[in-house]
Amino acid sequence: MNLPNMIEAKKRNKKEFNVYNYEDVKCVLKNKKYFIRTYGCQMNEHDTEKIKGILESNGFVACENYVDADVVIINTCAIRENAHNKVFGFLGQLKHLKETKKDLVIGVCGCMPQEESVTNELKDKYKFVNFVFGTHNIEDVIKLINESVTSGKQSIEVFSKYGDVCEGFPFKRSNNITAYVDIILGCDKFCTYCIVPYTRGAQRSRSKESIVEEVVNLKKQGFKEVTLLGQNVNAYGKDIYENYTLANLLKDVSDTGIERIRFVTSHPWDFTDEMVCAIRDLPNVMPYVHLPVQSGSNRILKLMGRRYTKESYISLYNKLRSIEGVSITTDIIVGFPGETEEDFNETLDLVNTCKFDGAFTFAYSPRENTPASIMKDQVDEDVKFERLNRLNEVVNKYSNMGNSKYLDKIVNVLVLGKSEKGEDKVMGYTENMKLVNVVGGNELIGQIVKVRITDTKSFSMDGVLAQ
Ligand code: 5AD
Ligand code: SF4
Repeated sequence: MNLPNMIEAKKRNKKEFNVYNYEDVKCVLKNKKYFIRTYGCQMNEHDTEKIKGILESNGFVACENYVDADVVIINTCAIRENAHNKVFGFLGQLKHLKETKKDLVIGVCGCMPQEESVTNELKDKYKFVNFVFGTHNIEDVIKLINESVTSGKQSIEVFSKYGDVCEGFPFKRSNNITAYVDIILGCDKFCTYCIVPYTRGAQRSRSKESIVEEVVNLKKQGFKEVTLLGQNVNAYGKDIYENYTLANLLKDVSDTGIERIRFVTSHPWDFTDEMVCAIRDLPNVMPYVHLPVQSGSNRILKLMGRRYTKESYISLYNKLRSIEGVSITTDIIVGFPGETEEDFNETLDLVNTCKFDGAFTFAYSPRENTPASIMKDQVDEDVKFERLNRLNEVVNKYSNMGNSKYLDKIVNVLVLGKSEKGEDKVMGYTENMKLVNVVGGNELIGQIVKVRITDTKSFSMDGVLAQ
């Protein structure tokens, strides 16, 4: 058994990390069905693609409903408290299922087990959970299933460490059109509200060769789009190269000729002019930037440890805005400790200045062991939610305005699948990441088509194929 330790998780005293290859382990369970529920960000979704790939290369078959599965895994998110509540709610349902399905194997993985309190709770009160692992040992999933099934006891392996890089996972991608590609793991920013640097370890870049090779292979397999992933992609390369940054990587990935390249998430602190130019000049790098601001008050930004000011953010924002056809979205937290009505109004002012194409807005949620969780002047929950509502109204107004500019315009849409808006429609994204529901059949899936926009809303647009 290995339990997490948040003090260890915080250490950044090592300069180098190991890169190793995934090695196949044979599972003792044969011909079984699995179900994975994933919470959280794209990084977690991509980790689930790794776990699925490992299970399927061992003969497991996916099933749609967890009640039919022999193995159920919950890939968890620790970023806010509400994700925590959902996971424990689902575990309650699984406990019930296991009363009639004694051989059901249940696993919990991802960011939540990296928290000491969670893993202790699973160990002491959730003994029906067969195995637990964290973010640093995804490749151990089969080993843990084997151990727990053979011993009949709970297997817990959660490491709190600097972190390594595992290459060569057998991915089971969620579709064959657009793919996630990890470029940098972990985070060293330690924003004072954020648990990610503790749950995902130090910032570690994958080598440019491995990334480019992965994109070349995806292109050969017919993928049209890649999304380069990291908690802070703009820090790419800093830890392993003297002089090779995200701007260089975008150029090398662009040279593969893959049709569309995206990247998330960007931290304003590491965003250089070279990167702005790379996005502007490379034809297959899509004009879309997710640039979290978090707050419009310099006092709060300082308490958050964000290392930029409102003014420097706006200056970067304006440089990015000058890119033809760009759209820019952001993340905002309301109710950070000490946030006054005045601070909050500065956030509203910033939203009115930037007119973001969209924003993900959150009420501050105190996270175990982070500095902000013990700051004085924690904001009342009702004040947080009242501010969140006011903020959302302003944010939605600008999303709507941003979309309405496209009415009657022709846009290029990469069609990804069926639309939820009707049998006769498919859905996809514009170059600048606007969701479009297009009248048309399944034969359009996987194609980049020209679409005339016929209606616009806050979160999507409707369109028809352009003649
Ligand atoms: N409380 C609320 N929101 C948070 N985020 C990160 N940590 C917290 C927290 N403790 C938000 C930030 C980040 C996004 C992924 O989640 O806005 O950019
Ligand atoms: Fe969290 Fe800040 Fe790192 Fe983003 S940059 S993952 S908000 S610590």
